[in-house]
Amino acid sequence: MEAEKNTGIEYTKSLVDRLAAVHTLELEEYEQLISAQNSETAAYAAKKADFFRKQIYGTDVFIRGLIEVGSCCKNDCLYCGIRKSNVNAERYVLTEEQILDCCREGYALGFRTFVLQGGEGMLPVGKICRTVKKIRSCFPDCAITLSLGEYSRSDYLKMFESGADRYLLRHETADSVHYRKLHPLEMSFENRMRCLKDLKEIGFQVGCGFMVGSPMQTAAALAKDLKFIEEFSPDMCGIGPFIPHKDTPFAKFPAGSVEQTCFLLSLIRLIKPNILLPSTTALGTIDPNGREKGILAGANVVMPNLSPIAVRKKYSLYDNKICTGDESAQCLKCLNGRLNAIGFQTVTSRGDIKR
Ligand code: 5AD
Ligand code: FES
Repeated sequence: MEAEKNTGIEYTKSLVDRLAAVHTLELEEYEQLISAQNSETAAYAAKKADFFRKQIYGTDVFIRGLIEVGSCCKNDCLYCGIRKSNVNAERYVLTEEQILDCCREGYALGFRTFVLQGGEGMLPVGKICRTVKKIRSCFPDCAITLSLGEYSRSDYLKMFESGADRYLLRHETADSVHYRKLHPLEMSFENRMRCLKDLKEIGFQVGCGFMVGSPMQTAAALAKDLKFIEEFSPDMCGIGPFIPHKDTPFAKFPAGSVEQTCFLLSLIRLIKPNILLPSTTALGTIDPNGREKGILAGANVVMPNLSPIAVRKKYSLYDNKICTGDESAQCLKCLNGRLNAIGFQTVTSRGDIKR
């Protein structure tokens, strides 16, 4: 028995070694790796991921100021608290002036990347472009990231030409059958993939990503996520645990685990050593030390909230989200302390990918 188990672990470690050496595995091998996760294989992968990250980025952790520009949404994703059929969700849209105030506050604190995130389809492209141009002219040394969902290629082009540098659009799952189980019929896997392709071709630095432990997710589906990341080669990848929201059809499903999220962070770092990988708020929500664990597993980005305190609780994608009552300055101080305690520090820079 013991011998068999060891062979299993040795084989898994050999897959991790190969991934670290050539940054690619077969789909079935990714699935085997995911299925074989335990504390030993995870620690093994984390050590290698940490090595790559330190080689490229040292102990620097990039900060992105997250501005939740609005909670209205035209979509009805089954997992998301701001889905359109949630009548309990409080809706708001920030004005351009409010967004600029968030940027000013963030700039003074050392943020050099602003991420404008919001429900899908809530901002007309003209308004997005005007806001981007304004931020660009007020803060020429900052990167502007948009995370506003699916648009046409020509709209994305307008956003890019207005001065946006980066776009985050999680693919949510690279398995089209699984995608169908998480989204209503009006949404399509093909369109999601079309958006990501367009964004990349236009010249954005692009981020994809997915939830870990989302309802009905299998090891085979996660293997497809890893293969997709390998082939698409995004500049950024946002992954965090699924966390149920009480007013959604997935309210009764269990949350994803810290362990699996961290293992996947390590594997993604091994697939693409220079990738920008956030340790997410969702990870910090399911475990008080979740964000530190994510960093130790290979992440190198944190995204503190710069949204006005008055609206933070309204941008509720999942239950019990952390930092909804704290001042941005306080969060940054807290995060810095946490990172220092594990040998890392936040830095004031745009934090572009190192090529
Ligand atoms: N739990 C965790 N993450 C969620 N997201 C949306 N709803 C949830 C949830 N219940 C993630 C999605 C989306 C990102 C903005 O937040 O992956 O792309
Ligand atoms: Fe927000 Fe600690 S990071 S309070």
